Amino acid sequence: MTQDLSAVAWPVRTDRLTLRPATLDDVAALWRIRRIPSVHEWLGHDFSDEARFAEMMADPDRLTTTLVIELDGAVVGDLYLRVTDAWAQSDVAEQARNTVAEIGWVLDPAHEGRGLATEAARELLRISFEDLGVRRVKALCFADNEPSWRLMERLGMRREEHARADSLHRTKGWLDGFTYALLVSEWSPGPSSAGA
Ligand SMILES: CC(C)(COP(=O)(O)OP(=O)(O)OC[C@H]1O[C@@H](n2cnc3c(N)ncnc32)[C@H](O)[C@@H]1OP(=O)(O)O)[C@@H](O)C(=O)NCCC(=O)NCCS
Repeated sequence: MTQDLSAVAWPVRTDRLTLRPATLDDVAALWRIRRIPSVHEWLGHDFSDEARFAEMMADPDRLTTTLVIELDGAVVGDLYLRVTDAWAQSDVAEQARNTVAEIGWVLDPAHEGRGLATEAARELLRISFEDLGVRRVKALCFADNEPSWRLMERLGMRREEHARADSLHRTKGWLDGFTYALLVSEWSPGPSSAGA
């Protein structure tokens, strides 16, 4: 599947960052960040080498759901954006098509603690609601991943599910999981949006 993000005027700029769809030229930069232990610890995929990561990124389904975060021209992280259908009764399923966005984030630890991930994710909300027209944005994380759910709360997202021991972590065992969400009716553009 190739996700269509042509409704967005790329590149998108915020106060400090540039967001754009990933290309295969970004693989080395993204791999460098993903291999940092404190980042890799929370990610869903485990790759033994860059070639296998490159193979995954070459899949259009993966490539078109990855946005690169640039600071001063350098890749400092990436965002996940997947637009999906909401659950619906079959006779109204057409109206539920492409109404949900699932989002995620990775930031190079060298740039943590300055609000950069929040700035990028806030713009991702704007892209999802304004440009792509979804009605609901959701994000998931391990409950132990406090930096990630704190980011969701800074975005104004609501914790909707605290699932007990539903997610298996590669070293920590069965962990609780959080789901956060925000409806378009609850969202207002933040001050960090440059309105690109
Ligand atoms: C999750 C992750 C992106 C959060 O990074 P982060 O640096 O904490 O988030 P931000 O860049 O938004 O920075 C927020 C921090 O900077 C501070 N900050 C400074 N200036 C700020 C500003 N202008 N705006 C917002 N926060 C600011 C905040 O207070 C916050 O610090 P605190 O948590 O001590 O209160 C990062 O930890 C990461 O990449 N983790 C590994 C990958 C991962 O877990 N991904 C998610 C999988 S579900």
